[in-house]
Amino acid sequence: MVNYKDLGLVNTREMFKRAVAGGYAIPAFNFNTMEQMQAIVMAAVETKSPVIMQVSKGARNYANGTILRNLAKGAVEYAKELGCEHPEIVLHLDHGDSFELCKECIDNGFSSVMIDGSSLPYEENIALTKKVVDYAHQFDVTVEAELGVLAGVEDEVSSAESHYTKPEEVIDFSTRSGCDSLAISIGTSHGAHKFTPEQCTLVNGVLVPPPLAFDILHEIEKKLPGFPIVLHGSSSVPMDEVNTINKYGGHLEAAIGIPEEQLREASKSAVCKINIDSDSRLAMTAAIRKHLAEHPGDFDPRQYLKPARENMKKMYIHKIVNVLGSDGKLAQC
Ligand code: G3H
Ligand code: 13P
Ligand code: ZN
Repeated sequence: MVNYKDLGLVNTREMFKRAVAGGYAIPAFNFNTMEQMQAIVMAAVETKSPVIMQVSKGARNYANGTILRNLAKGAVEYAKELGCEHPEIVLHLDHGDSFELCKECIDNGFSSVMIDGSSLPYEENIALTKKVVDYAHQFDVTVEAELGVLAGVEDEVSSAESHYTKPEEVIDFSTRSGCDSLAISIGTSHGAHKFTPEQCTLVNGVLVPPPLAFDILHEIEKKLPGFPIVLHGSSSVPMDEVNTINKYGGHLEAAIGIPEEQLREASKSAVCKINIDSDSRLAMTAAIRKHLAEHPGDFDPRQYLKPARENMKKMYIHKIVNVLGSDGKLAQC
């Protein structure tokens, strides 16, 4: 058993309480590689922001759970080395799909887990979430649950069709499951292709997607005052990164994300965790493609991973400062 507290990590409880009260959101960035971890830590330290580093089942399969846990431990030490005496770093399991996977993560240094029972019938979702909560809380690990289904064109964690969260279910669900935070479905979705062009409106040559269902979000807030709400699928798919990828040999068509103004608005509400993965993938790929196209003789991975890391760091800082508003929000610097 490895307890997250021994690694210098924290759970989400206190940071969510402050975020809900302060009207900002904590960034939850997915990572699979050392360069992503370094960029996340550099951005969090530079902006004095709490941060959630999250690992999907796919990330564990790619990079190995033990290695990722040690990268998170390294992240805490690295943050201190960079001058942040009291970093607030969460190691979170993203989209856990079984009790066994959540337990394995809790037993191996994770400070927070998501049990995603959103595709299950309502009562089964409650029962599975409660089972994870009962285990996790023995070790002071926090648990995110999901109610409602996100749509997605390309991601294994999404369904073809979305079902918005029903506000009338949230009190019963959160009370009976005991979850610490709740991911809801209000129109976001996973991946870089969140909307088809037909679903969007053309404004000044730019495809603008339909707005998020803020009415549902506000109804949920009224039912659960002060309860931490989570938004998945919140990449904005920056056009400059998509254009760079396409300019240097990529082929990304109709990539459309969530406009940042809408995420800014959501951050001011009970939404206190915003999940971003695709934007990091785009920033990394754009920088690598550009570097290799401009330096065809380079073959040392450090030559192209360094600009990739820089580009991701820039993107993370932008999200923290200009979208989520979590800069300067560490309890102690
Ligand atoms: O929500 C899903 C995340 O973007 C993780 O994606 O399962 O491909 O690692 P992944
Ligand atoms: P994006 O694909 O929009 O980055 O969403 C990531 C996510 O929700 C991870 O759980
Ligand atoms: Zn997600």
